[in-house]
Amino acid sequence: MARVKKSYVCQSCGAVSSRWAGKCESCGEWNSIAEEVVEASVPKGMGGAKGRKIDFVSLSDPARSDYPRHVSGIEEFDRVVGGGLVPGSAVLIGGDPGIGKSTLLLQLVCSLSQKSVRCVYVSGEEAVDQVRMRAQRLGLAEAPVELASATSVRDILASVGGDSGGDKGPMDLLIIDSIQTMYVDNIDSAPGTVTQVRTSAQEIIRHAKARGMAVMFVGHVTKDGQIAGPRVLEHMVDTVLYFEGDRSHQFRILRGVKNRFGPTDEIGVFEMAGGGLQEVENPSEIFLSQRGENVSGSAVLAALEGSRPMLVEVQALVAPSSLASPRRSVIGWDPNRLAMIVAVLETRCGLQIGSCDIFLNIAGGIRINEPAADLAVAAALVSALQNNPLPPETVFFGEVGLAGEIRQVAQPDLRLKEASKLGFREAVVPKGKKKSQPKRVSGGAIRVSEIDHVQMLDELFRGNSALRAAVV
Ligand code: TYD
Ligand code: MG
Repeated sequence: MARVKKSYVCQSCGAVSSRWAGKCESCGEWNSIAEEVVEASVPKGMGGAKGRKIDFVSLSDPARSDYPRHVSGIEEFDRVVGGGLVPGSAVLIGGDPGIGKSTLLLQLVCSLSQKSVRCVYVSGEEAVDQVRMRAQRLGLAEAPVELASATSVRDILASVGGDSGGDKGPMDLLIIDSIQTMYVDNIDSAPGTVTQVRTSAQEIIRHAKARGMAVMFVGHVTKDGQIAGPRVLEHMVDTVLYFEGDRSHQFRILRGVKNRFGPTDEIGVFEMAGGGLQEVENPSEIFLSQRGENVSGSAVLAALEGSRPMLVEVQALVAPSSLASPRRSVIGWDPNRLAMIVAVLETRCGLQIGSCDIFLNIAGGIRINEPAADLAVAAALVSALQNNPLPPETVFFGEVGLAGEIRQVAQPDLRLKEASKLGFREAVVPKGKKKSQPKRVSGGAIRVSEIDHVQMLDELFRGNSALRAAVV
């Protein structure tokens, strides 16, 4: 027997409470709580109906040795999802408005459909003609993609399912652009509310999984950068991707934040051009292409994004401040981390930097999250403060601790290899466990200066310091 139970759900964060309130206690949002009807089945007591027995199977399936994926040929995308889309998987792709999610997905379906993957593109935001116009502009109008403009989940599932009889079985891939425009008609709330988003996604995923159809949802992000609607959406899908970038720059980064079928933290780099998104195979070259020679405050960081090494330029500007609390402006990096590096430089190295205005920028509009950038930031700051360019052809990586010590970071060899490939001849890195020696990595030798304290950065600027002597 089922009894009807009501609960009150915050439409902003998804928190559930037992009574209505004007303000959500969980996220602090006003007027966001709405009543929802949940059908709760009465728990069966002891001696109630018995469960059905399930059959256990072994982990390995002797009849199958490989599990094919839908490989699109857009390598930057395929790598991020772990080597192609898994049939029957659900993918959520979030990003700011206008960043290029619809463009990416349109290019993806066109590419996949030419490899005889049957794709449906359902847009709830644009009319069919608008999508066609875009496809024409991208030169993809001939691709055999099934296109529709619809928002009713019931209609969509009836048309793609393959169980309506007559057609050629279920589709291979369903694109829903976006999940916030979808609605199921047995729920009263408006499209875009937590209940609608959650239920629509649930229905679509259940339907798709049962038929081995992959589904990709576009999800809007809120102003603080999270996928709008409840976090629960992120739990329901197998893979969560974020498409990010600065709209004023042409670079776009596709970042995997959750992936049940591959590594996370992989990134794909694209460039938004007149003809749509182009893959960027060697991002380092582009990020460094406009770097000035012999400028103070510029350091090259050998970063690692997922399995991919990438060189980016860290730019710092330190200027005398007339303000009581000097300005700190950071683009592409964590402001708290900058505050920490500034404090370490001031306290552990005695540099008078705290009372200056500081501007930090990761060139090219990319965002760096890893602590390995600390050393490059510190080097750029010291260089900017002393108005003295860093040695040319030098890369930096390493984490800075609160005592000013330089800590090791993951995959130093991979970073050095990328630096050497791009013609860098020196690297300033954390002290390793092994004894310091010039490293020979494929693509040319690179001299490695190992340092264990930020203070030693200062010595980089003095000709025949102990640091240099140790290296050469
Ligand atoms: P869109 O895919 O509509 O973004 P989203 O779906 O994430 O909201 O991207 C639209 C932006 O991309 C728009 O500002 C124009 C730009 N764009 C190009 O620069 N070149 C192109 O070929 C296309 C199709 C779009
Ligand atoms: Mg769009």
